[in-house]
Amino acid sequence: MGANVIVVEVDPLKALEAVMDGYSVMSSLEAAAVGDVFVTVTGDTSIIRKEHFERMKDGAVVCNTGHYDCELNIPDLAGLAKSVREVRANNDEYTMKDGRRIYLLAKGRLVNLAAAEGHPSEVMDMSFANQFLSLVRLAREGKSMGKKVYTIDKAQDTEIAVVKLSTMGRKIDTLTPAQVAYLTDFASGT
Ligand SMILES: NC(=O)c1ccc[n+]([C@@H]2O[C@H](COP(=O)([O-])OP(=O)(O)OC[C@H]3O[C@@H](n4cnc5c(N)ncnc54)[C@H](O)[C@@H]3O)[C@@H](O)[C@H]2O)c1
Repeated sequence: MGANVIVVEVDPLKALEAVMDGYSVMSSLEAAAVGDVFVTVTGDTSIIRKEHFERMKDGAVVCNTGHYDCELNIPDLAGLAKSVREVRANNDEYTMKDGRRIYLLAKGRLVNLAAAEGHPSEVMDMSFANQFLSLVRLAREGKSMGKKVYTIDKAQDTEIAVVKLSTMGRKIDTLTPAQVAYLTDFASGT
Protein backbone atom coordinates (compact mmCIF):
# COMPACT_ATOMS: atom_id res chain seq x y z
CA MET A 1 0.00 0.00 0.00
CA GLY A 2 3.02 2.24 -0.27
CA ALA A 3 3.53 2.49 3.47
CA ASN A 4 7.00 2.81 4.96
CA VAL A 5 7.00 -0.16 7.33
CA ILE A 6 9.16 -0.32 10.45
CA VAL A 7 9.68 -3.69 12.10
CA VAL A 8 10.28 -3.90 15.85
CA GLU A 9 11.63 -7.23 17.10
CA VAL A 10 13.21 -8.98 20.08
CA ASP A 11 14.49 -11.94 18.04
CA PRO A 12 17.83 -11.10 16.35
CA LEU A 13 17.23 -13.58 13.49
CA LYS A 14 13.77 -12.19 12.70
CA ALA A 15 15.17 -8.66 12.94
CA LEU A 16 17.98 -9.50 10.54
CA GLU A 17 15.51 -11.08 8.10
CA ALA A 18 13.47 -7.89 8.22
CA VAL A 19 16.56 -5.76 7.54
CA MET A 20 17.50 -8.00 4.60
CA ASP A 21 13.91 -7.78 3.30
CA GLY A 22 14.34 -4.02 3.15
CA TYR A 23 12.35 -2.92 6.18
CA SER A 24 13.49 -0.33 8.67
CA VAL A 25 14.30 -2.06 11.95
CA MET A 26 14.67 -0.13 15.19
CA SER A 27 13.83 -0.27 18.88
CA SER A 28 10.24 0.26 19.94
CA LEU A 29 11.16 3.51 21.69
CA GLU A 30 12.71 4.88 18.49
CA ALA A 31 9.73 3.71 16.44
CA ALA A 32 7.27 5.24 18.90
CA ALA A 33 8.50 8.73 18.00
CA VAL A 34 8.23 8.34 14.22
CA GLY A 35 5.32 5.96 13.57
CA ASP A 36 1.92 7.06 12.29
CA VAL A 37 0.12 3.71 12.64
CA PHE A 38 1.16 1.07 15.18
CA VAL A 39 0.11 -2.57 14.86
CA THR A 40 1.13 -5.13 17.48
CA VAL A 41 1.23 -8.77 16.41
CA THR A 42 3.40 -10.61 18.91
CA GLY A 43 1.29 -12.83 21.19
CA ASP A 44 3.11 -11.08 24.05
CA THR A 45 1.98 -8.55 26.66
CA SER A 46 2.39 -4.78 27.11
CA ILE A 47 4.31 -4.24 23.88
CA ILE A 48 3.17 -0.63 23.61
CA ARG A 49 3.09 0.99 27.03
CA LYS A 50 3.53 4.28 28.90
CA GLU A 51 7.00 5.16 27.57
CA HIS A 52 5.82 4.58 23.99
CA PHE A 53 2.58 6.53 24.30
CA GLU A 54 4.58 9.39 25.83
CA ARG A 55 6.72 9.65 22.66
CA MET A 56 4.00 9.29 20.01
CA LYS A 57 3.08 12.04 17.57
CA ASP A 58 -0.24 13.85 17.70
CA GLY A 59 -2.70 11.78 15.65
CA ALA A 60 -0.96 8.42 16.04
CA VAL A 61 -3.18 5.38 15.54
CA VAL A 62 -2.62 2.24 17.62
CA CYS A 63 -4.14 -1.20 17.25
CA ASN A 64 -3.46 -4.84 17.97
CA THR A 65 -3.92 -7.90 15.83
CA GLY A 66 -1.94 -10.38 17.92
CA HIS A 67 -3.41 -12.74 20.48
CA TYR A 68 -5.19 -10.60 23.12
CA ASP A 69 -5.90 -7.01 24.00
CA CYS A 70 -3.02 -6.98 26.52
CA GLU A 71 -0.48 -6.22 23.74
CA LEU A 72 -1.40 -2.56 24.13
CA ASN A 73 -1.23 -1.35 27.71
CA ILE A 74 -4.54 0.48 27.68
CA PRO A 75 -4.48 1.36 31.42
CA ASP A 76 -1.17 3.19 30.71
CA LEU A 77 -2.82 5.06 27.82
CA ALA A 78 -5.83 5.95 29.96
CA GLY A 79 -3.50 7.12 32.75
CA LEU A 80 -1.82 9.62 30.42
CA ALA A 81 -5.11 10.91 29.01
CA LYS A 82 -7.19 13.79 30.24
CA SER A 83 -10.21 12.76 28.16
CA VAL A 84 -11.49 9.98 25.93
CA ARG A 85 -14.21 10.11 23.31
CA GLU A 86 -15.45 7.75 20.66
CA VAL A 87 -14.93 9.58 17.37
CA ARG A 88 -16.52 6.79 15.33
CA ALA A 89 -17.27 3.12 15.82
CA ASN A 90 -14.12 1.23 16.88
CA ASN A 91 -12.08 4.43 17.13
CA ASP A 92 -11.48 6.01 20.54
CA GLU A 93 -9.61 9.30 20.75
CA TYR A 94 -7.43 9.66 23.85
CA THR A 95 -6.38 13.26 24.43
CA MET A 96 -3.16 13.42 26.43
CA LYS A 97 -2.59 15.96 29.18
CA ASP A 98 -0.12 17.71 26.80
CA GLY A 99 -2.78 17.97 24.06
CA ARG A 100 -1.60 15.16 21.76
CA ARG A 101 -4.31 12.80 20.51
CA ILE A 102 -3.84 9.05 20.17
CA TYR A 103 -6.45 6.94 18.41
CA LEU A 104 -7.11 3.44 19.74
CA LEU A 105 -8.85 1.07 17.32
CA ALA A 106 -11.25 -1.65 18.45
CA LYS A 107 -10.35 -1.08 22.13
CA GLY A 108 -7.11 -3.00 21.53
CA ARG A 109 -8.92 -6.21 20.59
CA LEU A 110 -7.91 -8.08 17.44
CA VAL A 111 -8.63 -5.33 14.97
CA ASN A 112 -9.35 -7.53 11.97
CA LEU A 113 -11.94 -9.48 13.98
CA ALA A 114 -13.41 -6.72 16.14
CA ALA A 115 -13.52 -3.91 13.60
CA ALA A 116 -13.77 -5.75 10.28
CA GLU A 117 -15.32 -8.96 9.09
CA GLY A 118 -12.82 -11.51 10.33
CA HIS A 119 -10.60 -13.88 8.42
CA PRO A 120 -11.32 -14.67 4.79
CA SER A 121 -12.40 -18.26 4.15
CA GLU A 122 -9.28 -18.65 1.98
CA VAL A 123 -7.21 -18.51 5.17
CA MET A 124 -9.53 -20.34 7.52
CA ASP A 125 -9.85 -23.39 5.25
CA MET A 126 -6.13 -24.16 5.75
CA SER A 127 -6.30 -23.53 9.49
CA PHE A 128 -9.39 -25.75 9.90
CA ALA A 129 -7.84 -28.46 7.72
CA ASN A 130 -4.84 -28.49 10.05
CA GLN A 131 -7.06 -28.59 13.13
CA PHE A 132 -9.17 -31.39 11.66
CA LEU A 133 -6.17 -33.53 10.70
CA SER A 134 -4.64 -32.91 14.15
CA LEU A 135 -7.85 -34.18 15.76
CA VAL A 136 -7.77 -37.26 13.53
CA ARG A 137 -4.20 -37.90 14.71
CA LEU A 138 -5.28 -37.35 18.31
CA ALA A 139 -8.19 -39.80 17.93
CA ARG A 140 -5.89 -42.43 16.43
CA GLU A 141 -2.74 -41.97 18.50
CA GLY A 142 -3.93 -40.01 21.54
CA LYS A 143 -3.69 -42.90 24.00
CA SER A 144 0.01 -43.32 23.33
CA MET A 145 0.80 -39.59 23.34
CA GLY A 146 2.35 -37.79 26.29
CA LYS A 147 0.99 -34.72 28.03
CA LYS A 148 2.99 -32.14 26.08
CA VAL A 149 2.67 -29.81 23.11
CA TYR A 150 3.26 -31.58 19.81
CA THR A 151 4.39 -29.81 16.66
CA ILE A 152 2.30 -30.53 13.58
CA ASP A 153 4.11 -32.89 11.24
CA LYS A 154 5.62 -31.29 8.15
CA ALA A 155 3.88 -34.04 6.15
CA GLN A 156 0.50 -32.72 7.35
CA ASP A 157 1.33 -29.12 6.40
CA THR A 158 2.60 -30.39 3.05
CA GLU A 159 -0.58 -32.40 2.39
CA ILE A 160 -2.70 -29.29 3.00
CA ALA A 161 -0.43 -27.16 0.81
CA VAL A 162 -0.76 -29.67 -2.05
CA VAL A 163 -4.57 -29.63 -1.84
CA LYS A 164 -4.68 -25.85 -1.46
CA LEU A 165 -2.43 -25.26 -4.48
CA SER A 166 -4.59 -27.56 -6.61
CA THR A 167 -7.79 -25.74 -5.59
CA MET A 168 -6.05 -22.51 -6.64
CA GLY A 169 -5.10 -24.04 -9.98
CA ARG A 170 -1.38 -23.57 -9.27
CA LYS A 171 1.17 -26.11 -10.44
CA ILE A 172 4.64 -26.56 -9.02
CA ASP A 173 7.63 -28.65 -10.11
CA THR A 174 8.86 -31.94 -8.65
CA LEU A 175 12.49 -32.92 -8.26
CA THR A 176 13.89 -35.22 -10.95
CA PRO A 177 15.60 -38.44 -9.71
CA ALA A 178 18.93 -36.89 -10.68
CA GLN A 179 18.12 -33.80 -8.59
CA VAL A 180 17.11 -35.93 -5.61
CA ALA A 181 20.38 -37.81 -5.89
CA TYR A 182 22.35 -34.58 -6.20
CA LEU A 183 20.70 -33.08 -3.12
CA THR A 184 20.92 -36.19 -0.93
CA ASP A 185 24.02 -38.06 -2.06
CA PHE A 186 27.20 -36.78 -0.45
CA ALA A 187 29.29 -38.27 -3.25
CA SER A 188 27.49 -36.51 -6.12
CA GLY A 189 26.27 -33.35 -4.41
CA THR A 190 28.27 -30.43 -3.18
N1 LIG B 1 -5.61 -11.40 14.14
C1 LIG B 1 -5.53 -12.53 13.50
O1 LIG B 1 -6.34 -12.82 12.63
C2 LIG B 1 -4.38 -13.45 13.77
C3 LIG B 1 -4.07 -14.46 12.87
C4 LIG B 1 -2.99 -15.27 13.13
C5 LIG B 1 -2.25 -15.11 14.30
N2 LIG B 1 -2.61 -14.15 15.17
C6 LIG B 1 -1.83 -13.93 16.40
O2 LIG B 1 -0.73 -13.11 16.07
C7 LIG B 1 0.34 -13.35 17.00
C8 LIG B 1 1.62 -13.57 16.22
O3 LIG B 1 1.51 -14.75 15.44
P1 LIG B 1 2.73 -15.28 14.58
O4 LIG B 1 2.34 -16.57 14.00
O5 LIG B 1 3.21 -14.17 13.66
O6 LIG B 1 3.80 -15.53 15.74
P2 LIG B 1 5.37 -15.48 15.68
O7 LIG B 1 5.83 -16.07 16.96
O8 LIG B 1 5.86 -16.02 14.38
O9 LIG B 1 5.69 -13.91 15.63
C9 LIG B 1 5.62 -13.11 16.77
C10 LIG B 1 6.85 -12.22 16.74
O10 LIG B 1 6.74 -11.28 17.79
C11 LIG B 1 8.03 -11.09 18.31
N3 LIG B 1 7.92 -10.55 19.67
C12 LIG B 1 7.56 -11.19 20.81
N4 LIG B 1 7.61 -10.34 21.85
C13 LIG B 1 8.01 -9.14 21.34
C14 LIG B 1 8.27 -7.87 21.93
N5 LIG B 1 8.14 -7.68 23.25
N6 LIG B 1 8.67 -6.87 21.13
C15 LIG B 1 8.83 -7.08 19.79
N7 LIG B 1 8.60 -8.26 19.18
C16 LIG B 1 8.20 -9.28 19.95
C17 LIG B 1 8.68 -12.47 18.27
O11 LIG B 1 10.07 -12.39 18.31
C18 LIG B 1 8.15 -13.00 16.94
O12 LIG B 1 9.03 -12.73 15.86
C19 LIG B 1 -0.08 -14.55 17.83
O13 LIG B 1 -0.53 -14.09 19.08
C20 LIG B 1 -1.22 -15.15 17.04
O14 LIG B 1 -2.15 -15.80 17.88
C21 LIG B 1 -3.64 -13.30 14.92
